[in-house]
Amino acid sequence: MLSYRHSFHAGNFADVLKHIVQLEITVHLLKKNKPFDYIDTHAGAGMYDLKSYEASKLSEFKRGVGLLNSLDYPELTTYFELIESVNRIPGKLEHYPGSPYFTLSLMRSEDRANLYELHSKDYQLLKTLTAVDSRFEPAIQIHNVDGYVGMMGLLPPPSRRALILVDPSYEVKSEYQKMIDTVIKAHKKFATGIYAIWYPVVDRARITQIDNILYKSGIKDIQRFELDLSQDDEKGMTASGMWVINPPWGLLEKMKGVLPKLKRDLSPDTSDRSKASYRCEVLVSE
Ligand SMILES: C[S@@+](CC[C@H](N)C(=O)[O-])C[C@H]1O[C@@H](n2cnc3c(N)ncnc32)[C@H](O)[C@@H]1O
Repeated sequence: MLSYRHSFHAGNFADVLKHIVQLEITVHLLKKNKPFDYIDTHAGAGMYDLKSYEASKLSEFKRGVGLLNSLDYPELTTYFELIESVNRIPGKLEHYPGSPYFTLSLMRSEDRANLYELHSKDYQLLKTLTAVDSRFEPAIQIHNVDGYVGMMGLLPPPSRRALILVDPSYEVKSEYQKMIDTVIKAHKKFATGIYAIWYPVVDRARITQIDNILYKSGIKDIQRFELDLSQDDEKGMTASGMWVINPPWGLLEKMKGVLPKLKRDLSPDTSDRSKASYRCEVLVSE
């Protein structure tokens, strides 16, 4: 039984970092005149109404994307333009796109997307969104099945170029192990894909454990981007990050510029700023 709904968290600080990294990878894949595949194992609803009961209950977006001024981020114009494109009144944040929306908006007709969403309501919302939006050019398939299983069946994709976004909600603790086991298996089938894996820091030991599994897996070329809003021993999700396997050239440099600004802008308040930090590093070299 799935209880997690991303609508309660849309546009929070974790979404901001995740979607910035996702878009950088998308833009990189678009540079070549060759098709690519986008596989989103945990796609969510694709679009979130920030005025809805769910989004306004915790108003996490107000402490996330709502704190950012696009003028301070000239290097992220695509990210802010896409957000602006789904909001009717300039400067008024009423909707926030989900991961499928960001990448689908940029993809070309020769590209291919496979999106997985298990929650029946979010699956329906995603289906409707992709059916009615004429801006989406690629061939899109939406599946109401387990994204881990679905992804494995698609690898290696015929294009041999892919962004694989793995964005679980980690509702159960065993999901960390399931995620990493699946990613390692997937990498064996398709070693050159770009895997972007999101993680929350609720218990640092758990993340260190996955780092160690990654080190020992033999997989090369892994980078980490993480934004820590408070210290590990505090309650709740203190930080969130992305592991990127086979990151595109230039991503590390770009994030070296972006992460200090996100730390500055997304820190809860001035007194807490000293507790905020970030990680932008090569976890395993090429
Ligand atoms: C963190 S949310 C996804 C957010 C989305 N990627 C975004 O950035 O907009 C995780 C989603 O995965 C769905 N989910 C959970 N387990 C799944 C599974 N095994 N396969 C596919 N979807 C799953 C949940 O219903 C939830 O909507």
